[in-house]
Amino acid sequence: MDAMRWEDGVLLLLDQTKLPEETEYLRCSRPEEVATAIRRLAVRGAPAIGIAAAYGLALGAREFKGTDKGAFFRHLRAVKDLLAGTRPTAVNLFWALERAYRRAEELAERNIADIQEAVLAEANRLFEEDREICRRIGAHGAALVPPGARILTHCNAGALATAGYGTALGVIRAAHAAGRVAMVYVDETRPLLQGARLTAYELKADGIPVTLICDNMAGYAMQKGLIDLVIFGADRIARNGDTANKIGSYSLAVLAREHGIPVYVAAPLSTIDGNLDDGREIPIEERDPGEVTHITGKRFAPEGVAVWNPAFDVTPHRYITGIITEAGVLRPPFEGAFRQALAAKGECRPPAC
Ligand code: MRU
Repeated sequence: MDAMRWEDGVLLLLDQTKLPEETEYLRCSRPEEVATAIRRLAVRGAPAIGIAAAYGLALGAREFKGTDKGAFFRHLRAVKDLLAGTRPTAVNLFWALERAYRRAEELAERNIADIQEAVLAEANRLFEEDREICRRIGAHGAALVPPGARILTHCNAGALATAGYGTALGVIRAAHAAGRVAMVYVDETRPLLQGARLTAYELKADGIPVTLICDNMAGYAMQKGLIDLVIFGADRIARNGDTANKIGSYSLAVLAREHGIPVYVAAPLSTIDGNLDDGREIPIEERDPGEVTHITGKRFAPEGVAVWNPAFDVTPHRYITGIITEAGVLRPPFEGAFRQALAAKGECRPPAC
């Protein structure tokens, strides 16, 4: 189940809006097509949109004809801006685009063909690295899962949201392989049902025990003693550990605290935005009201009703037990833990330096 693959100069994106009924790959040969796919959530999930955008930049580099280096870089910057303007919350989008663009800049003295190739090579590297990172997150996180665990997750932080294996679902996959998972409860995740359509589908396909619940059943499930831990992914983590993730994650964390249940966030270090002091600075995407008034294209709310549709919320760091990264499980106080983890990886960016 690959969210994307590069094949013969084309980016193939699994159209996640059609899952689980249809498995259809979109063929993107122009950066505009990648931008549209990201905007309409054909590809979604923080790491996946970052990697798709890097491939979009590679497509933009490759479509340039001519020998004028100045014109080439102006074109590349315009493509980068187009892709960066698709969704505002997941920082992985900007991080991956920056990495692919920086590679072009590093080779600015070389000929355009070399630079075009290097941008594609960087996108491929991001893809391969993400697979490896998810495996490591899985291995670190599995150690936190007690035998017979009943886990609650929200939205989709799985293979479909990454280059493969997943972050939160990577932990669940690794824990399941170690024989520790009794049940995974999956919130349906309104308005776009990533839990019901994507996470339930992924877990079922892997033979992992899964029970689908509506979002408003989570509190009762906790009260009944059905949940041992909560794991979800992240779209952006501020330097103090405040975490933006799919709308509804905050409610789960507050409920979990009331019931003494640990809450883990699973995310690559690239999701940390050390430039932001706390979660209040994270830009929260607001999406089309039609996503709330309709389900899979069918209207069920009255015409003209006012709608508010924030796509993400922020869980304050005090509700988060630990953040599972490729560098290990980071514990509060998070800022120091981020600094150490980034420095150990040789990444010089805030809060490391
Ligand atoms: O709107 P989406 O589907 O892109 O939201 C996705 C999430 O909130 C995920 O939990 C997050 O991006 C982490 S994916 C590994």
